[in-house]
Amino acid sequence: MFYKSLILPILQLINPEFSHLIAEKFFQLPFFKIFTPILFKSKSKKTSTNVLGIELSSPIGLAAGYDKNCKILNPLLSLQFGFVTGGTITLEERFGNPKPRLFHLAKEKSLINSLGFPSLGLEKINKNLQIDHDNSIFLSVSGINEDEIIECIKTLENKTEVFEINISSPNTEGLRLFHNHSELSKLIEKIKNISKNKILIKLPPWLESEKQIFLDLGKTAILSGADGLVVANSLPTNDEKLAVGKGGKSGKVLTSNTLRMIAETRSSLGPGPIIVACGGIFDSKDVWNALALGADLCQGYTGFIYEGLLYAYNINKGLIQMMIEKNVSSIDQIKGKSLV
Ligand SMILES: Cc1cc2nc3c(=O)[nH]c(=O)nc-3n(C[C@H](O)[C@H](O)[C@H](O)COP(=O)(O)O)c2cc1C
Repeated sequence: MFYKSLILPILQLINPEFSHLIAEKFFQLPFFKIFTPILFKSKSKKTSTNVLGIELSSPIGLAAGYDKNCKILNPLLSLQFGFVTGGTITLEERFGNPKPRLFHLAKEKSLINSLGFPSLGLEKINKNLQIDHDNSIFLSVSGINEDEIIECIKTLENKTEVFEINISSPNTEGLRLFHNHSELSKLIEKIKNISKNKILIKLPPWLESEKQIFLDLGKTAILSGADGLVVANSLPTNDEKLAVGKGGKSGKVLTSNTLRMIAETRSSLGPGPIIVACGGIFDSKDVWNALALGADLCQGYTGFIYEGLLYAYNINKGLIQMMIEKNVSSIDQIKGKSLV
């Protein structure tokens, strides 16, 4: 309540990139590190799930893009996420697109961004990843050609157990290269040759009319050796408030589209490959519905911005409550249940 009625309105008055910077500093304060693990505790045996052979304490994770330079992954994890995704990490330092490039659409609980991968670059981010990491840290990497991505994978191989390959940012033209099936196959096969880690491919979102194009791309990814898919990135949109005129929309406006895509993806892939639902995940009902339709895990970014520090905490609490009400004893058992 305090966050939504007081902090969020103030943050929305400030330039969104500046308010992100303030949040980043806040998460680095020593008191945050000491007190959050004590004050925020909502994960339990009931919320734990084994995915990709990794025991995660909750199915809700933080999506890529919030901690691009991997400075605050552990404080974020202490907010009761089951996993957090650092990055997207790029080989070279990048400044991204010209500003303005990030807006709140508060009434819609959505964001529009055209950041275009601002990144400190692999060398500096690798230094940020020196301490304290565990298997709940996923790393998102990308590049505009195969060599850039392979270099990131080689360097970061021992810093994670799960790589998420971002081939879908709507703000970086070069990524479309990997929408070509043979380029994507080649990339994944090369990664599998040099990495023992699990590989998730992050797809762009699709409309119902385009579904076969992206379901086929997802299938190619899995047949080439990827362990799963993240469905999906932000939705491409035009907006004249952005300096570059186009970007990606995220948040509540995506929820129903995400649930449709999860059902389509599971039906296309069958059981086995991992599916991570991403886009408009705001509360425990969204997580429940995504799992019921075939997702293994969920990620949120914009929900975290609008719901605040208790985002993952409340999702875990809500899931436990729903599991008790519906007589479900594990996260796995939610799969195939009816929607709420
Ligand atoms: C400001 C912003 C920056 C983002 N940066 C990245 C990124 O670097 N890499 C990536 O894969 N996705 C990035 N995303 C996309 C999110 O990870 C997510 O796929 C998308 O926002 C949909 O989820 P949501 O509705 O929960 O925000 C970004 C999203 C936002 C809003």
